[in-house]
Amino acid sequence: MSQDEDKRLAALAAAAEVEDGMLVGLGTGSTAAFLIDELARRAGEGLRIEAVATSLASERQAIAGGLTVRPFDEVAAIDLCIDGADEIDGACIAIKGAGAAMTREKIVAAAARRMVVIADGSKQVASLGENFPVPVEVLPFARAFVAHRLTALGGTPVLRLRDGAEWRTDQNNPILDTRFGAIADPLALARALSCIPGVVGHGLFVDEVDAAYVARDGIVSRIERPGAPAAPKA
Ligand code: A5P
Repeated sequence: MSQDEDKRLAALAAAAEVEDGMLVGLGTGSTAAFLIDELARRAGEGLRIEAVATSLASERQAIAGGLTVRPFDEVAAIDLCIDGADEIDGACIAIKGAGAAMTREKIVAAAARRMVVIADGSKQVASLGENFPVPVEVLPFARAFVAHRLTALGGTPVLRLRDGAEWRTDQNNPILDTRFGAIADPLALARALSCIPGVVGHGLFVDEVDAAYVARDGIVSRIERPGAPAAPKA
């Protein structure tokens, strides 16, 4: 079973939570792309949903697939958000943002009555931060200052590049990918990151994720965060 097939299976499992009438948040990345394809397929068969997107790329894919995408700046709450992750632990704490969309992803996740991560088994970790840095989106004006503060917090920030040039998010901001090693206290780190002036957003999701569908070798498991709603509330 390939990694892509596991991504697809996780996406299909989460897509089964999507029902007629819902306003659905569409994640970003290769796993979320399978979700968008599946929702477009079901919409073609009569599923009636509206969507908001966490990135311009996902918005383009959804519109091309025939989904109705509402501008998020006119939306305060959604029913369900489904998105990928770079790492997720057993308590549904996640690192996101390898695709650079973590700021919009976190806003849409926070607006969702239920937020579900979809991932292949390689994303499941015992300890967050071992494989992936925490992406930190910064105002260009504050780049050096924020890098200094991240270093003071014990991190090693590296400016994200693409083709040798500074990577810019959909908001046209740079990203400092910051390695902290194994993160002992994700909540404390998330709060500390959010408090740095000039930080626009970061990829440490401590309480946004309610559940995860993780597929490994063709078997999908669902992890529910203790106390999270089992289904979107009316
Ligand atoms: C986008 O910014 C990210 O948060 C993605 O959701 C995450 O990187 C997972 O991407 P893949 O599904 O492509 O691994």
